[in-house]
Amino acid sequence: MRLFATCARGLEPILTQELESLRQGNIEPGKGGVGFSGSLEDVYRTSLNLRTAVRILRPILESEVWSTDDLYQAVATIDWSQYLTLQHTFAIDCNVKDSEITHSLYAAQRTKDAICDQFMQKFKRRPSVNLDNPMMLINLHISANQMILSLDASGDSLHKRGYRPIQNRAPLNEALTAGLLMTAGYDGSMNLVDPLCGSGTFLIEGAWIALRRPPGLTRKRFGFQGWLDHDQGLYSRVREAERQKVAKELTHSIQGFDIRRDAIDFGHMNTKAASVGNQIQLARQDLMTTMPLGESGGMMICNPPYGERIGEERDLIPLYRRLGEVIRTGGEKWNCWVFSGNRNLLHEIGLKKRNEYRFFNGKIPCWLINYEPTK
Ligand SMILES: C[S@@+](CC[C@H](N)C(=O)[O-])C[C@H]1O[C@@H](n2cnc3c(N)ncnc32)[C@H](O)[C@@H]1O
Repeated sequence: MRLFATCARGLEPILTQELESLRQGNIEPGKGGVGFSGSLEDVYRTSLNLRTAVRILRPILESEVWSTDDLYQAVATIDWSQYLTLQHTFAIDCNVKDSEITHSLYAAQRTKDAICDQFMQKFKRRPSVNLDNPMMLINLHISANQMILSLDASGDSLHKRGYRPIQNRAPLNEALTAGLLMTAGYDGSMNLVDPLCGSGTFLIEGAWIALRRPPGLTRKRFGFQGWLDHDQGLYSRVREAERQKVAKELTHSIQGFDIRRDAIDFGHMNTKAASVGNQIQLARQDLMTTMPLGESGGMMICNPPYGERIGEERDLIPLYRRLGEVIRTGGEKWNCWVFSGNRNLLHEIGLKKRNEYRFFNGKIPCWLINYEPTK
């Protein structure tokens, strides 16, 4: 079957690499995601393993639609008893852009009507809608008057790994964090330090990469579990095979520092929830007065605050200048990466750039920059 894994803009090349390393067929990078072909087993394996994907979709209908009536007619051409029973609950997740249809909620409602009307005609009853926790999530994507209707294999977005119940002020999305680490070339064969670690997202995603631990391993539910062709026995076997591959211990250290006590407390809770609490070192430490990069060398990666409010930018200049000093003092043994949404502040680091990548943190354009330890 044809499948499409969605991701944040900028992460398509990394998602492509992930699919290649999982040996998926007919990989076709697109905008905001990557297409590929695979079996039900591949749906399970990719759902468990992909670190940068947001959701995996299984397209069932593509059509040109210029109005919600066109949409209704197109949806009605599907025999919905192939996908839903009267016992199912379902919901439609819709996004529209650059199309005659502009109202995503109304488009979702017409889609729901087409499905329910078909059931009413055949059975005089219909499956119920459950917006919060549907057994079957249907994805409707309309762009340039082309609609793609898909079964959503993920349900809740895949970036929700389940280890972060408490949010600190500015945690990075887990899928983006994993993508940044992979872009930087982190594979667990070097020490890792985040001197501004907040609740520890780089550290946890790094530990999971290093241990080859699939991010979906502890997830309670995937969307595909509501599909009529779902094979629970096959899924259990795929999951168990993936679980067997997880390494027990890190071969290189992972350390995080933050000036705030509550950030370190959240870090302890989150690393424990991610089953790596005893493998990651966390300490309260002010970057302005301490040197986090030791003699051993490795990779440093962090996302300093970017000062989204007026006045904050100026206050953050010393922190960015200090980062430059730390990277310079760390020397060639350290491969240093900084992720930020503020170019002026990044400029304050004052070092030569080796590489630069552009991403989006939600809607905010951001840069991941690799610095040389020289001016
Ligand atoms: C944008 S947050 C990092 C978020 C983190 N990546 C996460 O996923 O939770 C920036 C962090 O830098 C920390 N910080 C700011 N100034 C610092 C300093 N001088 N020394 C150490 N940490 C500092 C803040 O407390 C904050 O937790």
